[in-house]
Amino acid sequence: MRLVILFGGRSAEHEISCVTAAHVIAAVDPERYEVVPVGIADDGQWVMADYQPGATSLVAEGPGVDPSVLTPESLAFPLVHGPLGEDGTIQGLLELAGIPYIGSGVLASALCMDKAMAKDVLAGAGMDQVRYLALRDIEVDDGALGEAAAELGFPLFVKPANLGSSVAVTKAHDMEELATAVKLALAYDEWIVLEEAVTAREIECGLLGYGRLRASLPGEVRPSHEFYDYEDKYTEGAAQLLAPAPLPREVIEEVQGMALAAGHALRVDGMARVDFFYEENGRGLLVNEVNTIPGFTPISMYPKMWEATGIGYSDLIEHLVDAALERHHSRAERIGRTGRAG
Ligand SMILES: Nc1ncnc2c1ncn2[C@@H]1O[C@H](COP(=O)(O)OP(=O)(O)O)[C@@H](O)[C@H]1O
Ligand SMILES: [Mg+2]
Repeated sequence: MRLVILFGGRSAEHEISCVTAAHVIAAVDPERYEVVPVGIADDGQWVMADYQPGATSLVAEGPGVDPSVLTPESLAFPLVHGPLGEDGTIQGLLELAGIPYIGSGVLASALCMDKAMAKDVLAGAGMDQVRYLALRDIEVDDGALGEAAAELGFPLFVKPANLGSSVAVTKAHDMEELATAVKLALAYDEWIVLEEAVTAREIECGLLGYGRLRASLPGEVRPSHEFYDYEDKYTEGAAQLLAPAPLPREVIEEVQGMALAAGHALRVDGMARVDFFYEENGRGLLVNEVNTIPGFTPISMYPKMWEATGIGYSDLIEHLVDAALERHHSRAERIGRTGRAG
């Protein structure tokens, strides 16, 4: 089978995607797969990238992509994080081209990428979350920010709706910081989310499969900064990643149940990492966000949680391939029925 690894992309997470791609290629069985790395360069060009055995990272450089590698006989593994990758755009292209691919489809990808929409869907499913407000750029003025601050209280978090890696995520302690934080977030998206700041442990849980998803043992992130910011995420050894998380059995089961419910509500398929805040002496577990293309290097939380659950890195990729093919065939049969009648 031809496995097309789509990596790179135009977001702040380009580099991490290049690292992930090298590890995935090293882990797959060359007897089973013809691996074709396709890089998406910073300027959006799709290129045929090169993989040298032993490389710890790929480079999104090379001749323009040869369209013949992207056929319905291929299987795509999108490993592009953030906007124009994780948000349903690549998934839509693959759907149109009839190429089976790993991970969530268009709807789940777009929903999970948009923190405002994801929160509304999770609220509709009755899931506990931090208090939040979503604002569009045209609604933002001193009055709206004053009302938001009165409702949520300080400190509060400000985030662009569509981004990741903590880029432009700010903890604001007063009106002046709030105004600056909002300006920064609006530089990345026309929608922003404001949230009450909680003091809580950060717990994560992996989802895997098609239809009936499986939940991994939870992991825990212990940030080294005031919160889990960009530097903390990408400086090796800064934040501590514990897998499994030290939690009592009943809390583990609750995390898994909520992760499955969140994934179900957001229509997640294939893989996802569901992130929680855990207010131990307060409201308990609160869903923070769902990532449809989680970090995927061997030291990233998603593979680490599956490792702790008994599924090693190479096996995890096999499970993802199986789920992708199952999803593709199940959908192809149904879509086939929606064609012209007669
Ligand atoms: N409401 C909040 N209260 C406390 N900490 C928060 C809150 N929102 C975000 N954080 C901190 O900021 C980090 C990044 O925010 P998150 O919503 O996960 O955005 P991203 O998609 O960039 O990962 C979180 O891991 C957490 O450390
Ligand atoms: Mg996060």
